[in-house]
Parts: sequence; C-alpha cells; structure tokens
Amino acid sequence: MGVVRDIFIGLSENKVLNDASKQMGLRFGAQKVVGGTGVEDTLKCINDINNQGMNVTFDNLGEFISDKSEATTEKNNIIKMIKAVQDKGASAYPSVKLSQIGLHIDEEFCYQNIREIIEAAKKTDMFVNLDMENYVSKEPSMRILDKLLKEFDNVGTVIQAYFYDAKKDVRKYKDQRIRLVKGAYKEPTTLAYQSKNDIDQSFFEIIKTHLVEGEGFTSIATHDHNIIEKSIRFIETQNIPKDKFEFQMLYGFRKEYQEELVKRGYNMCVYVPFGTDWYAYFMRRLAERPQNLNLVVKSVTKSKRFRAGAIGVAALIVVSGLVKLLKK
Ligand code: FDA
Repeated sequence: MGVVRDIFIGLSENKVLNDASKQMGLRFGAQKVVGGTGVEDTLKCINDINNQGMNVTFDNLGEFISDKSEATTEKNNIIKMIKAVQDKGASAYPSVKLSQIGLHIDEEFCYQNIREIIEAAKKTDMFVNLDMENYVSKEPSMRILDKLLKEFDNVGTVIQAYFYDAKKDVRKYKDQRIRLVKGAYKEPTTLAYQSKNDIDQSFFEIIKTHLVEGEGFTSIATHDHNIIEKSIRFIETQNIPKDKFEFQMLYGFRKEYQEELVKRGYNMCVYVPFGTDWYAYFMRRLAERPQNLNLVVKSVTKSKRFRAGAIGVAALIVVSGLVKLLKK
C-alpha cells in the first residue's frame, strides 16, 4: 500500500500532467469528487448539497503557484466565488490554501491577500477556513492566523492529528472554530505519528479536547465511521449540544453516510473543491485510499472516449512505480 501511496503522491506533484489536465475539463472520475470547473456549475453543486440539509465549504483548486500574479489570480477567483455565493444566498464558505495565495512567495503579500478574502466574506458574516498543508507551511500559516484573529472573528484553521504537537495546538485554539483532521501529507517520524493506530488515537484525543475544553466550534473532518461513532458516544455522555460541532466529509465520499448523519440530526458540511486545476487533488485522494480507483474504472467503462486517456494514466502509474522501486 505504501508504494501505491507514494506513486500517487509522486503523480500529484507532476507539473506536466497537472498542466495537461487543465485543458481537459473533469475526467477519469474526477467529476465525482470535484464540484465543477467554473462558478455556475459549482453553485449548482452547492445548491444541490444545501437542498439535502448540508452546509458546504468550497475550495478553489490551484497548484504550483510560483509568482505573485498567479497568486493574485487565485485570490480573485476565491473572491468571485464568495460574491456569487453571497448573491445566491447559498450556505457555503471558503476553505483557502495559503500557499495558493502566496505563502511561499512573500508572507506579508499572502497576509494581505487572505485579509482581502476575509473582508469580502465578512460582509455576510461568512466564515473563512485556512486549510493546513505540509509542516513547512504550518508555522507561517499560524503566524498569519494569529494576526488575523486580532482583527476578525470569522476565521479559523485546521489541526492535523498526526503531528506530535497537535494537542498543544488544539489547546491554543480551543476557543476558535477549528477543523480537526488526521493529516494528509507525508511527514517525517521526527514530526509526526506514522501508524494508523497512533494517528487515530491522537485524532480522538484532540477531538475530545476541543469539544470540552473551550468555547470553540469543532468540525470533525473524517470519513472514518469508527472515529465518528466514537465521537458521537463521547458527545452524548458529555451532553455536548449539536450546535457546538459538525461533521465534515469530502464531496463524493460516503454520501449515504453523510445523509444518514443528517437524518440522525447532526450538522454535516461537505468540502467541495472546484476549478480546472483538479488533477493534483484527485491524485491525493487516490493516494489516500487506492480503492478510490474504482471512480476511475467506472468513468472509463462508461465512456469509450476517454478510455485511451485513462490507459495513459494507468501506464504512467506503472512507470512511476517502477522508477520509484528501482530508486529504492
Ligand atoms: P481514513 O482514510 O484513515 O479511513 C479510515 C477508515 O474509514 C477506512 O479504513 C475505511 O474503513 C473508512 N473509510 C474511509 N474512506 C472511506 C470511503 N470513501 N468509503 C468507505 N469507507 C471509508 N488534511 C490536511 O492535511 N489538511 C487539511 O486542511 C485537510 N482538510 C480536510 C477537510 C475535510 C472536509 C476532510 C474530510 C479531510 C481533510 N483533510 C485534510 C484530509 C485528512 O487529513 C485525511 O487525509 C483524510 O480525511 C483521510 O482520512 P480519514 O479520516 O477520512 O480516514
């Protein structure tokens, strides 16, 4: 499984394939996990989810941002979507990756960009979440968040359970609206737990801590029914009101379970990525759970037109895997 994960992580970092996919529109099953490529189709997706009694957080997909003009374009795309959601009166808010708006180019420039996004959202009291990326981004992201929290009350972030310092971070932000996740990036043993057991244990610890120790709102973001059901049992024993937390899942994953949780009276928020830059996001989802490849298989068997392309992707996967194995 580790090799398969490495292959897909490797593919997600391939700029040539990323650039090529932008010209294609949503393909190979990506349309099942990405809400749309533009404002109109994404709004329709948001509206459908809202009609099922669920909230939405939308993520403007954008990878390999290397200069200020690209970062400015991404910031403008995010603000455009915020305004469209506000005009429509939809129930949705942005999740923003700071690297996309200049974190690794110039921290002050990034701060000004996110400030502008938060100000646009604030007009309708819309919340803005700062997604967390790899460890290199963590400290500067938290520096920016701390600065923003002095001025705004509609911003929060993500804490990744695999980091050894997750519990310390959760206490620091116990009064904020925080999304708790297991963590999606490859991190070294010096910084992060590696085994599923250790990560799950840390995850449940930070969920309990955030739910009981502060005044913040807790977003439990996972598809893991064991963690969700364990959290529900804990929530019930502690009499935690349902408006103090929610569950979050990615668009296209465990839809029936999402609906079941809504029926059981829990708040559910669906994370909807959108944009033409879907490729790396899609590869990361395949890395996380290779069973997601059935999305690719289904899309290919339905559509002869893209079979050749999918075979190309499969060939690349095999070649990249072989290259990795040879390097080991
Ligand atoms: P995991 O993948 O560990 O699965 C555990 C078990 O759950 C599986 O063994 C299986 O039994 C079941 N399961 C999982 N997926 C299933 C499926 N599709 N169908 C059926 N059963 C399934 N990460 C990050 O680093 N920074 C971030 O900002 C975010 N943001 C974020 C937002 C949201 C809304 C979500 C849901 C996730 C993130 N993540 C993230 C990603 C997160 O860190 C993590 O990598 C993924 O959610 C995968 O881990 P899970 O907790 O879902 O369970």
